[in-house]
Amino acid sequence: MITKPINTFFREATKKDLEAISAIENCVFSAPWSQQKLLDSFQNPSISMRLISYDDQIAGYLLTLNSIDFIDILTIAITPQSQQQGLGRGLLDDLLQHLDQDKVRSIMLEVRVSNVSAIHFYQRYGFELIGTREKYYSNLEDAKILRLLI
Ligand SMILES: CC(C)(COP(=O)(O)OP(=O)(O)OC[C@H]1O[C@@H](n2cnc3c(N)ncnc32)[C@H](O)[C@@H]1OP(=O)(O)O)[C@@H](O)C(=O)NCCC(=O)NCCS
Repeated sequence: MITKPINTFFREATKKDLEAISAIENCVFSAPWSQQKLLDSFQNPSISMRLISYDDQIAGYLLTLNSIDFIDILTIAITPQSQQQGLGRGLLDDLLQHLDQDKVRSIMLEVRVSNVSAIHFYQRYGFELIGTREKYYSNLEDAKILRLLI
């Protein structure tokens, strides 16, 4: 079922949002993307960056790499003070609402094996564990591969 938390608003990110996105990125990740890497994403026509605002504040974002028949989630983050209130699920609902249901067959992602809360979040949404990429991250941590069939 598609749900939408109250007082939330979704939109495409612009370069003006870079500072806010970078601040959240630095706050929630042990190995955050640099501002330059985030900026480069804006130049890539295959990457989409959607924001969720909650009570008029940017509360999180979702970066996706869009191929013809599948979407790769590059990163998703919600500010610590707004987590576990349905906003992350809201960003995934927003993604599903905007994708081309005639073409896109699946949504894929990699997540650190140590990130058990994110793995639980994705599995609650319906993602299935389909494999492991060994030493995927720069600190040689393995990644779980998850997939949601559309
Ligand atoms: C992972 C993340 C995006 C989830 O967003 P969120 O807004 O907190 O999640 P929601 O409130 O929408 O929760 C949806 C479901 O996930 C579960 N969930 C969310 N956070 C959880 C946690 N810390 N531990 C266990 N389960 C969790 C909720 O229990 C909920 O399940 P329900 O259907 O039983 O109610 C957010 O916690 C976050 O930004 N984490 C840090 C960044 C990160 O690790 N990103 C993922 C990188 S791959």
